[in-house]
Amino acid sequence: MLDQTIDLSPLRNHFPALQQTDENGSPYVFFDGPGGTQVPQVVIDAMANYFTNANANCGGPFITSYRNDDTIVQARIAMADLLNANSETEIVFGANMTTLTFSFSRAIGRSLQAGDEIMVTRLDHDANISPWLALEEKGVIIKWADFNVKDCRLDLDYLSSLFSNKTKLVAVGYASNAVGTINPIKTIAAMAHEVGARVWVDAVHYAPHRPIDVQTIDCDFLVCSAYKFFGPHVGVVWGKQKLLDQLAPYKVRPSNPDPPHKFETGTLNHEGLAGVVAAVDYLAQVGLIYGSRLSSELSKYEGRRKNLKQAMGIIAAYERPLFSYMLTELSKISGMKVYGILNEDQFDERCPTVAFTREGYAPAGIATKLGKKGVFVWHGNYYALAVTEKLGLEDSGGMVRVGLAHYNTKEEVDRFLSIIDY
Ligand SMILES: Cc1ncc(COP(=O)(O)O)c(C=O)c1O
Repeated sequence: MLDQTIDLSPLRNHFPALQQTDENGSPYVFFDGPGGTQVPQVVIDAMANYFTNANANCGGPFITSYRNDDTIVQARIAMADLLNANSETEIVFGANMTTLTFSFSRAIGRSLQAGDEIMVTRLDHDANISPWLALEEKGVIIKWADFNVKDCRLDLDYLSSLFSNKTKLVAVGYASNAVGTINPIKTIAAMAHEVGARVWVDAVHYAPHRPIDVQTIDCDFLVCSAYKFFGPHVGVVWGKQKLLDQLAPYKVRPSNPDPPHKFETGTLNHEGLAGVVAAVDYLAQVGLIYGSRLSSELSKYEGRRKNLKQAMGIIAAYERPLFSYMLTELSKISGMKVYGILNEDQFDERCPTVAFTREGYAPAGIATKLGKKGVFVWHGNYYALAVTEKLGLEDSGGMVRVGLAHYNTKEEVDRFLSIIDY
């Protein structure tokens, strides 16, 4: 049930961008979170503070360099907390998920032989497909797992039939950035490990919505992007220490040969890393900001890592009924075709992201109309190319995508619905 008594304004006040209005004074509606979320003031402050007090390169014998080095360590610790990693040395930073995945696919590819197999899925963003396809030049064979068009869930029987003793890696998304499906990563990881394959998980779309525990799901690598979880444009890889030790990435000779440093080519986005710490700290406190009723559970815990787990659960619990309401109302609109899991009982397997088409209307036209009225959504394929191809929508402009985040409200959903119901 959608609880309409929750007052989100204390939480929304943390986000300066959410205070923007159009010329009539109506606040903009940010339903573009799957393309990038807004940031709380603490993230902006942390980045400004970095430039004021810690702006230096690494390893210098002076105070700003010490502060800079500490910022990087703190960012690794923060990400290890968010993902429940064993150690901060398992955290690698880079420009974004795509660049990191290309860099790791090259490093992983160095140990592969012609005839080895990698599995990708048609439900994935292309950033978790093309870096693996690139290894075809080495003779690596790509196997495509597929999804059912009816509910946009992976066909697990078919996926399991693709494993062989040649399978070396499975690249799979935690959640689809197009249709919102959450994949059973733990099950897929267990299947992969039975044949000795590694699992590379793209958690970019999933990270702002649910807790992540790399130890429980037991994948081998997991990658995400801070700008999708209320932070700056920084990409993050978590990898099992032993595997990070083994891999040999392309690197410059003088740089540190140990992980995580050997994967971090050149100078990192240090101010962004200051923002990552603040974003993770913000998430850890989100339950408190939502209001005392929702946060009563939080007080039982001590420490950021435990608070994060709880806070991400609170976010999921807030988003779910709001999303359910939006989906129900959206489906009532004439000519509407909504993709993905529609059965509310299965919403454990769905992020609050919906993609739809409407008979007689081009997705670009719908998104532009909404944009003109201050409601921000995406249209097209959002690089989930294999999804729109499989659904037969690539040549007709793809789908409109609406993504809820924990700062969105029922009033915003109603405003969106009133514009689209024409
Ligand atoms: C599911 C998913 N994977 C990967 C990416 C690519 O992330 P990045 O922009 O950090 O390269 C995106 C970006 O939209 C995404 O939604």
